[in-house]
Amino acid sequence: MRLQDRVAVITGAGSGIGRAMSILFAREGALVLAADLDGAAAEETAAQVGARCVAMRVDASQPEEVRAMIERAVGEMGRIDVLCNNAGIGSTTDVVDCEPDDWDRVMTVNVRSVFLGCKYAVPHMVRQGRGAIVNTASVAGMVGVPKRASYCASKGAVIALTRQVAMDFVKQGVRVNCVCPGTVDSPWVERLLAGVDDRAAARAALEARQPMGRLGTPEEVAAAALYLASDDAAFVTGTSLVLDGGWTAA
Ligand SMILES: NC(=O)c1ccc[n+]([C@@H]2O[C@H](COP(=O)([O-])OP(=O)(O)OC[C@H]3O[C@@H](n4cnc5c(N)ncnc54)[C@H](O)[C@@H]3O)[C@@H](O)[C@H]2O)c1
Repeated sequence: MRLQDRVAVITGAGSGIGRAMSILFAREGALVLAADLDGAAAEETAAQVGARCVAMRVDASQPEEVRAMIERAVGEMGRIDVLCNNAGIGSTTDVVDCEPDDWDRVMTVNVRSVFLGCKYAVPHMVRQGRGAIVNTASVAGMVGVPKRASYCASKGAVIALTRQVAMDFVKQGVRVNCVCPGTVDSPWVERLLAGVDDRAAARAALEARQPMGRLGTPEEVAAAALYLASDDAAFVTGTSLVLDGGWTAA
């Protein structure tokens, strides 16, 4: 029970990695606020988790909604010990084909959401003298992935912001880290493959890109986030924990 009675807020909790985090964190004793733009998906996560989870429809890129999410955790659950800024969207173009509005949308959902989560959660964590933030970045923030211009830029920004916020609040007991998954077998990948002619070949190419020859699982990313969120990582801040089947080591 590594998160016994801790309060954890998780964005993008209605699917994939965020849902796996919600399930694992609750199993480890946390009270979970599962937030997602898709309110019904968040409700489904809460139903799967059970009594230790409440759902909330939140657009993680909108200041008033993020503020309300954090206030609800503190108001109804008493505190906020863990924030997982996990909501994110993808992109599939190179820099030439990327439309400015699409660039802005990806940066807004993937980066502004992390900024906003930190902005509104950190003051409570400082007051408590303790808190852990886990951002979901990606190996795409570390290597150049073809046709992912805005996505790579956004995840690089998440890695940089993680380090920066960690430094500002290291003396106040707030730890800030990120996970950097390689390709993970979530509904995200299903959507990616949906538009492809030869799905099996495209999936095999994604698997081959990672030296272990397989995709990661949402549960594996959730386990890494649990480590960073828990006291096991008490000496860890500002770091990027890579889970990519060896992709970036190759
Ligand atoms: N799946 C992968 O291969 C992979 C790899 C590396 C990093 N990631 C990152 O992991 C995170 C989760 O991805 P996933 O694979 O679980 O994808 P997913 O699509 O299964 O889940 C993402 C969830 O985020 C929600 N969401 C989207 N925009 C939102 C917003 N503005 N506010 C609140 N919620 C919003 C969606 O409704 C969805 O439920 C993302 O940040 C993604 O970039 C995924």
